[in-house]
Amino acid sequence: MFEWLRKKRFTVPSRRASVPVITLDGPGGAGKGTIARRVADALGFHLLDSGALYRLVALAAEDACVSLTNGEKLAELALRLDARFGKDSRVWLSGQDVTDRLRTEQTGAGASTVAQIGTVRRALLSRQRAFRKSPGLVADGRDMGSHVFTDAALKIYLTASAEERAKRRHKQLKDKGLDVSLAALSQDIEHRDRRDSERSLAPLRPAMDARLLDTTGRTIEEVTQQVLDWFAEL
Ligand code: DC
Repeated sequence: MFEWLRKKRFTVPSRRASVPVITLDGPGGAGKGTIARRVADALGFHLLDSGALYRLVALAAEDACVSLTNGEKLAELALRLDARFGKDSRVWLSGQDVTDRLRTEQTGAGASTVAQIGTVRRALLSRQRAFRKSPGLVADGRDMGSHVFTDAALKIYLTASAEERAKRRHKQLKDKGLDVSLAALSQDIEHRDRRDSERSLAPLRPAMDARLLDTTGRTIEEVTQQVLDWFAEL
């Protein structure tokens, strides 16, 4: 009987091992979202923007008038989140298109606050893991390689100088017609980096086995190609 069990373990590969995951972690503005989408498109993989889930919890709290300090209620909202992700990057919350609200600085700040709460992080864990579907997944966030998909095939930690990240965010917002000062954005980015790296739960830092990729001064195409090359080499 034990022999049978031992054989079974080796002959039936687990579903997790058969669906490859590429994790892209790093601070805001390092280019994770853009690179993750390009890599997912190139490989025909699914995409998980985990930051969007934290942002959705912050929005759901706003809509339900729940305080961002009420861990119990926030975890409930996170568990019951009625979210839908469209192919064209549109996002719906409880049937409402929240694509534009999701990307505001205010929602980002709210997300950073709720992301510090352990019950919220736990509530989102299985939802994030459910994105792992054949033929593969590209997951972007802060703790994808270090906590959520610890057995990922390829773990990458993207960085860029704080100055370059602020400039990129500034351009993104300007393209959307929003006028925000570069100095205020730099300050905001540094503040959020500090909060994300200093929190006790799943702090922002590279997984032990992650490859570091500095995107400062590199084009989107170069960085995408580097990720694809690393994946092809596995
Ligand atoms: O990447 P983003 O700006 O959409 O993330 C919003 C916030 O959510 C950010 O402050 C960090 C947090 N976050 C997190 O703690 N863990 C993740 N896996 C993704 C985002």
